[in-house]
Amino acid sequence: MSNIFPIFDTILSAEDKEKLLKQKSLVVWVVGLSGSGKSTLARGLENALHQKGYLTQILDGDNLRTGINKNLSFSDEDRTENIRRAAEVSKLFTSCGIITICSLISPTEEIRKMAKTIIGSDKYFEVYVNCPIEVCESRDVKGLYKLARKGEIKNFTGIDAPFEEPKNPDLEIKTDINSIEVCHNQLVKNIIEKIKFEES
Ligand code: ADX
Repeated sequence: MSNIFPIFDTILSAEDKEKLLKQKSLVVWVVGLSGSGKSTLARGLENALHQKGYLTQILDGDNLRTGINKNLSFSDEDRTENIRRAAEVSKLFTSCGIITICSLISPTEEIRKMAKTIIGSDKYFEVYVNCPIEVCESRDVKGLYKLARKGEIKNFTGIDAPFEEPKNPDLEIKTDINSIEVCHNQLVKNIIEKIKFEES
């Protein structure tokens, strides 16, 4: 690594790009169990922001795992690497002034702390999509809980792999007791507050 010479001080700053885009960049880190509603809320947020003229990018665990992260499993080590790469990519989008919406289970405090450290605490906004495992399992949109219960998928989050609830998320959304519309509006309202551009 000693022969690497990054050029961070000679490239345009995030502020230059934010000014161009008339928005403040942010990483919306959406955390929760499989089936909790993360991806639905992420897509809804992206559409709402797009309509209001904000430039966004979604990074979704399922999608990343078919591309940049396709060599990763669901072992603790590979989940950490999955989140590390997503956080590093988010940081690049942030330096481009873009609002990044990450939808990843991010199952442990340690993993989320790492993401926050990589991105920077001022740009990291954690949203906990809180939905009890019984409800996620009853929805079983992808049929994966059924397979995990049969032992056909190992290390499934919430079944035989851990999920530690976020202790201090910036926002908590309860998809088991509120309608999709209520959850969506709660998310959009909170994010708009953070990304509004103020001309200096
Ligand atoms: S994370 O734990 O590394 O953050 P990530 O969000 O990328 O997970 O991927 C989760 C998605 O992968 C789930 O929504 C589900 O569709 C799929 N999946 C496949 N196997 C597993 C598993 N063992 N545990 C959790 N999700 C799994």
